[in-house]
Amino acid sequence: MKKFLLASILICGVGFTKAQPVLKQNEDIIISTGTKSTDLIYKVNKSDGRLYQVYLGSKLGSVADITQFKASGHLAYATFGTDNLFEPAIRMTHNDGNPSLELKYVSHNIEKPSEDITITAILLRDPEYPVDVTIYIKSYIQEDVIEQWTEIVQKEANPVTIYNYASSMLNFDANKYWLTQFHGDWAKEMKMQENELTSGIKILDSKLGTHAHMYQTPVFFLSLNEKSDETNGELIAGTLGWSGNFQFLFEVDEKGSLRVISGINPFASEYIVQPGKSFKTPSFIFTYSNHGKGLASRNLHHWAANYGIMDGKGTRLTLLNNWETTYFNFNEPKLVSLLNDTKKMGLDLFLLDDGWFANKYPRNDDRAGLGDWQENKAKLPHGLGYLVKEADSVGVKFGIWIEPEMVNPKSELYENHPDWILKLPNRPENYFRNQLVLDLTNPKVQEFVFNVVDGMLTKYQGIAFIKWDCNRMMTNGYSVYLKDKQSQLYVDYVNNLYSILERLRQKYPHFPMMLCSGGGGRVDYGALRYFTEFWASDDTDPLERVYIQWGYSYFFPAFAVCNHITSWGKQSLKFRTDVAMMGKMGYDLKVNELTENELKFSQEAIANYKRLSDIIWHGDLYRLISPYDENRAVLTYVSNSKTKAVLFAYTLNSRFRESFLPVKLQGLDPAGKYNVKEINTFPGEKPSADNGTYTGDYLMKIGLNIGTGAPLTSTILEISE
Ligand code: DGJ
Repeated sequence: MKKFLLASILICGVGFTKAQPVLKQNEDIIISTGTKSTDLIYKVNKSDGRLYQVYLGSKLGSVADITQFKASGHLAYATFGTDNLFEPAIRMTHNDGNPSLELKYVSHNIEKPSEDITITAILLRDPEYPVDVTIYIKSYIQEDVIEQWTEIVQKEANPVTIYNYASSMLNFDANKYWLTQFHGDWAKEMKMQENELTSGIKILDSKLGTHAHMYQTPVFFLSLNEKSDETNGELIAGTLGWSGNFQFLFEVDEKGSLRVISGINPFASEYIVQPGKSFKTPSFIFTYSNHGKGLASRNLHHWAANYGIMDGKGTRLTLLNNWETTYFNFNEPKLVSLLNDTKKMGLDLFLLDDGWFANKYPRNDDRAGLGDWQENKAKLPHGLGYLVKEADSVGVKFGIWIEPEMVNPKSELYENHPDWILKLPNRPENYFRNQLVLDLTNPKVQEFVFNVVDGMLTKYQGIAFIKWDCNRMMTNGYSVYLKDKQSQLYVDYVNNLYSILERLRQKYPHFPMMLCSGGGGRVDYGALRYFTEFWASDDTDPLERVYIQWGYSYFFPAFAVCNHITSWGKQSLKFRTDVAMMGKMGYDLKVNELTENELKFSQEAIANYKRLSDIIWHGDLYRLISPYDENRAVLTYVSNSKTKAVLFAYTLNSRFRESFLPVKLQGLDPAGKYNVKEINTFPGEKPSADNGTYTGDYLMKIGLNIGTGAPLTSTILEISE
């Protein structure tokens, strides 16, 4: 171990702004980044000039502790081709064919764009080739969230190819590592699995281009030493802000150290960087918690509300969607009656789903019309304008469904622009849901997609909401436009989708938009910068939804998770309603078939929801009992002032006479006196929980008896100080 001289250390961290030291001989440089509770510390080793990660964990007591680091640590961004024996974060071939990269520290810079944010940029350079890699660490101090990305700039005489270009590489030294992943399929999103990592490599990834939920969502927990639960354990929660192929790679080496490499999936994605140009990776976003998964989720929720999701602090619209009630089969009078139902229920907006467009090949099922975004004259003889006006006169807002990245072969768009579509030469077209993907790398297609949205919003200024769908994964991966750069397709597609969304956001900065991909097929913080919410799953059976919504709640705040009350499942309307109310509530139900009691119950539930939605959307989530542990699920949202809380309890498939222990609450003020009142009871039904007044201490130490224990029943409690 090398001798470490205090005199030869430069420490640069938060508070040391604009530090730009150049490494001198005999100097170690410590670069300290982090948030209010987390330190992420790097060191430049004087002997080799490389950058190492020396610490990631809870805040160290003092700067003096930082100077105690004696070992080199682990490489901060491992390269390929010199002496690294493990998976690299970056791999490239120089313009002379040299397949190796060496990165040495040059300088670093710390900016503080706001009280809450610090951006540390560490510049590394190959000593022999003009290739710069800058590692960015953006710390959100109060939220305890860190965002990492890199930028690769090359100034060689000719183009170079990059094969691996991770957003982040993190190193851990723990006795054991527990990885929690969220697997699934269409209508089966966010299935949680936890396993111990063993020696070697474990990869979580998607190669589907879009529609990642046919495999898995880009999120994970990594628990250190022991499995963590809601309140105990050391872990990171990680996610990639990228709406395409991603990869999280976990490699446990021969010494038991773990390297986590996160970023765009290198699979079939080598990228050519032209001289003088740069390549910027998407962000890896993570939070460190030493108090279990509950704190990690709350950190991410706060970050999402403040920075990660469009209008995260704003309100959301309750709505009636027609998809599950009409599918493609509707006409103007039917839609007008649904506008009236929206009003009758007390909802804010009516959302017209798929099937309203295309004439030569009418969109009467999913086999035709996609791409031809003109109102279907048979179904809507007076056009969208008429419906927008009708909605206005009824007193509700009007929203609309689109799927602008896709095309049916049976469409005018397909006939007129075959070169705008991804398809392989000399191969039959491969269909999924009878459709193909448009080539978003082509500027003409970008313009078309922008105009689908902009054209509609300009023509019908009363449109108040968009559901943006994307119903297939990417196969047929060939772009006429990209010519000899086919391996850039997966990356360029996503970046160009973001450019279109960026352009739309310049023009319509606060317009509410739901992100949808055949359910939750494209849920990530790359896209959510442009969307106010997402459609969580096409599976709306409330028993399944408890698990699906539970899964999303680990990484995404309640205001973003759209839950609709539908006719799926055989559960009572109360159970369906109570399940939807734990997130962003909506309806996809035949209102005209509700009984008088059901209608009354629904109207009251919507009024309750509107009264409590600020706590549900912007309060702190405490998951109290997991459906993965018991035959019930219980969670609360507690207002920031701790004066109000809402508790949701769902009894699932309980056994005959199964009994449950009292539920101990969390997050309340122990000294506060809280009035507990059951709400959302169905007309004629008795309350099923301990109504009364209790101290916060009692509620958190002794707890409440909630629910009857009968299968598929639910309870909502309003708790007020
Ligand atoms: C898939 C979505 O998830 C559904 O909600 C619905 O909008 C259909 N597409 C329409 O085609």
